[in-house]
Amino acid sequence: MNTNPRRYHITTFGCQMNKADSERMAGILDNMGLISSDDPNEANIILYNTCTIRDNAEQKVYSYLGRQAKRKHKEPDLTLIVAGCVAQQEGEALLRRVPELDLVMGPQHANRLQDLLEQVFNGNQVVATEPIHIVEDITKPRRDSKITAWVNIIYGCNEHCTYCVVPGVRGREQSRYPEAVRAEMEELGRQGYPEITLLGQNIDAYGRDLPGVTAEGRKKHTFTDLLYYVHDVPGVERIRFATSHPRYFTERLIRACAELPKVCEHFHIPFQSGDNKLLKAMARGYTHEKYRGIIDNIRELMPDASISADAIVGFPGETEAQFENTLKLVDDIGFDLLNTAAYSPRPGTPAALWENQVSEEVKADRLQRLNHLVGVKAGERSQRYMGRTEEILVEDINPKNANQVMGRTRGNRLTFFEGDINELKGKLVKVKITEVRPFSLTGEVTSVINYQLSVIS
Ligand code: SAH
Ligand code: SF4
Ligand code: F3S
Repeated sequence: MNTNPRRYHITTFGCQMNKADSERMAGILDNMGLISSDDPNEANIILYNTCTIRDNAEQKVYSYLGRQAKRKHKEPDLTLIVAGCVAQQEGEALLRRVPELDLVMGPQHANRLQDLLEQVFNGNQVVATEPIHIVEDITKPRRDSKITAWVNIIYGCNEHCTYCVVPGVRGREQSRYPEAVRAEMEELGRQGYPEITLLGQNIDAYGRDLPGVTAEGRKKHTFTDLLYYVHDVPGVERIRFATSHPRYFTERLIRACAELPKVCEHFHIPFQSGDNKLLKAMARGYTHEKYRGIIDNIRELMPDASISADAIVGFPGETEAQFENTLKLVDDIGFDLLNTAAYSPRPGTPAALWENQVSEEVKADRLQRLNHLVGVKAGERSQRYMGRTEEILVEDINPKNANQVMGRTRGNRLTFFEGDINELKGKLVKVKITEVRPFSLTGEVTSVINYQLSVIS
């Protein structure tokens, strides 16, 4: 039994939800008096916060875990935890596969880490994967960045996209109350975080599980209302949000983004496929015409807004012609960024059982063709920045050039320029863009906007 562990290590796989959960779990461990360590081999509590969105994400977890499980044979005091989406998907089966594990905990249990660990320290092997009402966090997250922070506003997902594990592993939608979201943002503002990203798998679903209707008979709590409620939090200079779903995306939201100065001009709206038959098989609930209509609407109301998305190639049954409809959509719209993936059959999802699977060769070929087009289009989109002066929030040093710092435009383009990180970290800077590349920009500082922000580094 390990009663006095000193150091913990967390490795996080997967999406921003997992990153946010890891930060809350690190906050709990700090609160318990443990010390964080970047090196798993120096830690006596190791937590893998896992992702299972595609098979390769899941396999990565097993290889990391295998190494530490071996180490445990020599160091029985080592505590091994698997949290996140693989934990939820596999549950008890994970203990059979890796008997060295002490704790298997699904994403809904992240805030209960202390309680669960105490059971482990009392000598139990614990599995926590039953669906629960997510308790509001009482500990402070230990944020990895001092500049940008994630704030969850809705957990889970009620959609039934036929390829996707998320509803199975993250459970039903649970929105946080606006007051709780604002309180967390105010605290972040006080701590000097200039940028906050509001998170949800389907952020447009925010509030539909909360009670109340307006005098006009509308749901009282919507994502747009939330933005109006939190947009002026002191100390926070930029607000971002992800992910939008085309099925529920509203013009009201575009108008709010156009109107509210702190809300950045960037939309992340995955379309997944440019073919209506495939969209139907995916159960996405919209057509490519509807998607194009949303983008037209954004470009009419906010001509300079950046637009990014996710797409899948090689979904079961995808023909060459259907894939070309995806290429056509990408060519017509011109995304600033597109995350692409080859379809990966996932346990417990309907599409994994269909017989019309596409071969790995065809998937790889389509992925490569799509990625090529994505780069070309992103390069075209970057051109509009040339010679312009952009507002950049400085995040860090350029890892490839110590004389340069890097940050992002409001539209989320990574931008490099010469400067001293000690002086500029966390500041908003005006930068004249002198060089453009598909996914990044280079420029020169023209002025520093906010000297008053003090950033703890
Ligand atoms: N809630 C978001 C997506 C979350 S998952 C949405 O609805 O858009 C992130 C991305 O992973 C998805 O947009 C999709 O493009 C990709 N993805 C999900 N399941 C996948 C699978 N089985 N195979 C390949 N890519 C997948
Ligand atoms: Fe998955 Fe669809 Fe939910 Fe996104 S909306 S998390 S793709 S089920
Ligand atoms: Fe992965 Fe879970 Fe996110 S499966 S993408 S970590 S919701």
